Amino acid sequence: MARILITSALPYINGIKHLGNLVGSQLPADLYARYMRVRGHEVMFICATDEHGTPAEIAAAKAGQPVAEYCAEMYGVQAELARGFGLSFDHFGRSSSARNHALTQHFAKRLGEAGLIEQVSEKQVYSHTDGRFLPDRYIEGTCPNCGYERARGDQCENCTMQLTPLELIEPRSTISGATDLEVRETHHLHLRQSKLRDTLDQWIDSQRGWPVLTTSIAKKWLHDGDGLQDRGITRDLDWGVRVQFDGAPWGGMEGKVFYVWFDAPIEYIAATAEWADAHSKDEAAWRRWWRTDEGAEDVRYVQFMGKDNVPFHTLSFPATLIGSGEPWKMVDYIKSFNYLNYDGGQFSTSLGRGVFMDQALEILPGDYWRWWLLSHAPENSDAEFTWENFQASVNKDLADVLGNLVSRVTKFCRSKFGEAVPEGGATGPREAQLVENITRRLRAYETHMEAMEVRKSATELRALWVLGNEYLQEAAPWSSFKTDPEQAAAQIRLALNLIRFYAVISQPFIPAASARIMADLGCDDWSWPEDVAAALALLPAGHGFTVPEVLFAKISDDQRLDWESRFAGSR
Ligand code: MF3
Ligand code: ZN
Repeated sequence: MARILITSALPYINGIKHLGNLVGSQLPADLYARYMRVRGHEVMFICATDEHGTPAEIAAAKAGQPVAEYCAEMYGVQAELARGFGLSFDHFGRSSSARNHALTQHFAKRLGEAGLIEQVSEKQVYSHTDGRFLPDRYIEGTCPNCGYERARGDQCENCTMQLTPLELIEPRSTISGATDLEVRETHHLHLRQSKLRDTLDQWIDSQRGWPVLTTSIAKKWLHDGDGLQDRGITRDLDWGVRVQFDGAPWGGMEGKVFYVWFDAPIEYIAATAEWADAHSKDEAAWRRWWRTDEGAEDVRYVQFMGKDNVPFHTLSFPATLIGSGEPWKMVDYIKSFNYLNYDGGQFSTSLGRGVFMDQALEILPGDYWRWWLLSHAPENSDAEFTWENFQASVNKDLADVLGNLVSRVTKFCRSKFGEAVPEGGATGPREAQLVENITRRLRAYETHMEAMEVRKSATELRALWVLGNEYLQEAAPWSSFKTDPEQAAAQIRLALNLIRFYAVISQPFIPAASARIMADLGCDDWSWPEDVAAALALLPAGHGFTVPEVLFAKISDDQRLDWESRFAGSR
């Protein structure tokens, strides 16, 4: 039994996330967490809302609410949606927590003591029209690296380059569109990442088996151009973690807060402390996940995120941890994702284009979305959501293959043998062959799940469902029943066990449907089928069950057309 720490990139607090956000971190992280738990490992699965920075301020201003109130409300909304999608966080924290404030200040203090923070006078963009300094995200312009015209002052969305506003070509204010911007002098703290370049380089080299997408992005920012740049870690904002320690301000930093990308990843740790607080556990309970001197040396730590987050997790956050000089647990594996596009374009929060988490759950239960999103996860390239593909996937995989098997077997059993596992008869070579085929595919499924190969896992799972359907088609208990009811009984006994087997192995993908199947089968033995033959004999003759309601309803053409136009844009 291993101990596995899993974090999902923290969703920004401002507004409800779309399905592309969901499949880029939280959902695959949940798949992995669920799988590792059912395999008997000790899992700590952490997520939180990312609440600081300008996006939160802008959104609160738009909503006409004080920012703290806005964040508290949106936290509630996001937590509820996470439940709707079956995201099984051990804790869903908030980066605005007291824990994170304290820990962020602690890290800054340590970095300062190590000589890794310097106070520099900096030039910052002042907007005359807006009458204020503009933080990075309030400035837009053309990316100097790729020419993308709507690059933000902190990062280019198109090529993932981390930027400063001064690097943008033809910058403008996103508040007013004003171009009468002036550069003025102010003071900020810089993290001297460049001093850690060799250490980070070696650390990345020592990581075995990281995905190419992850390593290549990290190496690019370490070596391209002038290499790793020092970065400002303070901002002129009200909302955020104050630049002070034990209540005493850092001289010259009055009225400033830490940059959101400095405190957000620290919340992975702080949220684990929040988990301990929420369960009245002591400090040791969370520290054994994070401090290699207090038990975390045998933890395997896996992070999930979209590709635009990779530089922060391979360079900036490790710089914070290493630079502190303390024995913090470093990530062992980063699973990063490309983008999910929506029907020929991009998801757009501002245009309301695409399906957002709340809308998705209004029209269909979480499992339908989980299945499509995971089986089409943007792993090796960008992926695209289309309604036609979604409809086909739901109708074929979930309704025709899995749902149909469950309903045919249970209904047939009820009509011929009653609502209990039938007795009598014996299985033969056909069943032995099935066990063999299933075992082979199950082992492949386990390998892919272990390796976080999301699409391959889904393909293997679907193939496992198909094996059951083919078996039923060939064994045809409805006809063998007429000539040899004993044989039909043995076949149905196996098929009922097959349904339980599917509920167990499918649970990481479709947890709600699996739970319903298990409830209807009157079974709560979720043990993993190490031995397939034994697993398919687990429910004994005489074990009662009830016929489940329709597990997955088909999506009609009318529904598809209706949804297609409803989510086309302009919310
Ligand atoms: N909120 C960021 C985003 O959505 C991700 C933050 S991840 C963490 O892109 F490292 F900061 F936690
Ligand atoms: Zn760019």
